Amino acid sequence: SKAPVVVAITGGAGQIAYSLLPPLLSGSVFGPDQPVKLQLLDIEPAMTALSGVVMECEDLAYPLYAGAVGTSDPMVAFADADYAIFLGAFPRKEGMERKDVMEKNVGIFNSQGSALKGAKPGVKCLVVGNPANTNAAILASASGVPKENITCLTRLDHNRARAMVAIKAGAAVDAVSGVIIWGNHSSTQYPDVRHATVEGKKVLDVLASDWLEGEFVTTVQKRGAAIIAARKLSSAASAAKAICDHMRDWVQGTGDGFVSMGVFTDGSKYGVPAGICYSLPCKCAGGEWTVVDGLPIDDFSRAAMDKTKAELEEELELAKSLL
Ligand code: NAI
Repeated sequence: SKAPVVVAITGGAGQIAYSLLPPLLSGSVFGPDQPVKLQLLDIEPAMTALSGVVMECEDLAYPLYAGAVGTSDPMVAFADADYAIFLGAFPRKEGMERKDVMEKNVGIFNSQGSALKGAKPGVKCLVVGNPANTNAAILASASGVPKENITCLTRLDHNRARAMVAIKAGAAVDAVSGVIIWGNHSSTQYPDVRHATVEGKKVLDVLASDWLEGEFVTTVQKRGAAIIAARKLSSAASAAKAICDHMRDWVQGTGDGFVSMGVFTDGSKYGVPAGICYSLPCKCAGGEWTVVDGLPIDDFSRAAMDKTKAELEEELELAKSLL
């Protein structure tokens, strides 16, 4: 049988991790014959809770389970990791300044970046903890991991947009393809359906453009906040599913079509500068992603793409000033 892959997960005692661990161990992400070893990191006060999570990883009794450890030491968590999923971050609490939250996250991702040096040289990283795109940029500069191996999660936004179009059109979700999330995983993100189809027809020909350019965009942008308002907790089941989709497609390939991923590019695509982690349409094959280049961009899209770019540049500047 195959040697296990080692998956490091930060924020291992949190709510996304609780929904994420079962599908990682079931074989639906890394393949049906690929054993998985989990290395879960959380902070010291969460160690008792984390030990319970480790017990449950055993009790799932999945045949691909190749061990799980819980630790508060990043060096232990990232040792020999093939994959690293960063859920743990410092959330913004009521009354806190953006700068103070950023300062905490700069501290977390800077020190976890140095501990990543103990991971496998080809370690693939996915940053989920918010502000995800800028945390990914901090991690990239602190870790020395090649930028193509550091991504951030915008697949949840992508899935939300896809599902929303399907429901509005009365179609199955897998009949919708080609939606794109551009930019930041924040309320400035631009969910774009200009290249999307539903049941083979252009979404622009099926659904009203005032809905597509208005309510659709703002609903996707504010979906995370709507779920927090309703649940008093942020999305976890759908976030875990999106993480699985992102990692599975990156590792096993996208086949036809493309998905949205927060990635670093060389500055030559869609006017996105190097250095920021910006969500773009990507295809994956052989464990590598490439940007789907050359899609025509109209003025409406250009303005929305530039707005979210400006926010990311500003966030990165703030983060750098706190390093
Ligand atoms: P949670 O609060 O339930 O869990 C976070 C866990 O991280 C906690 O157990 C906490 O102790 C741990 N943690 C905090 N600092 C840490 C550190 N320095 N090292 C290791 N562990 C640390 O939060 P939840 O719901 O699991 O969400 C995790 C993150 O994902 C949040 O930042 C949330 O905003 C973000 N998120 C991002 C989404 C995206 O689409 N990019 C979607 C949904 C959530």
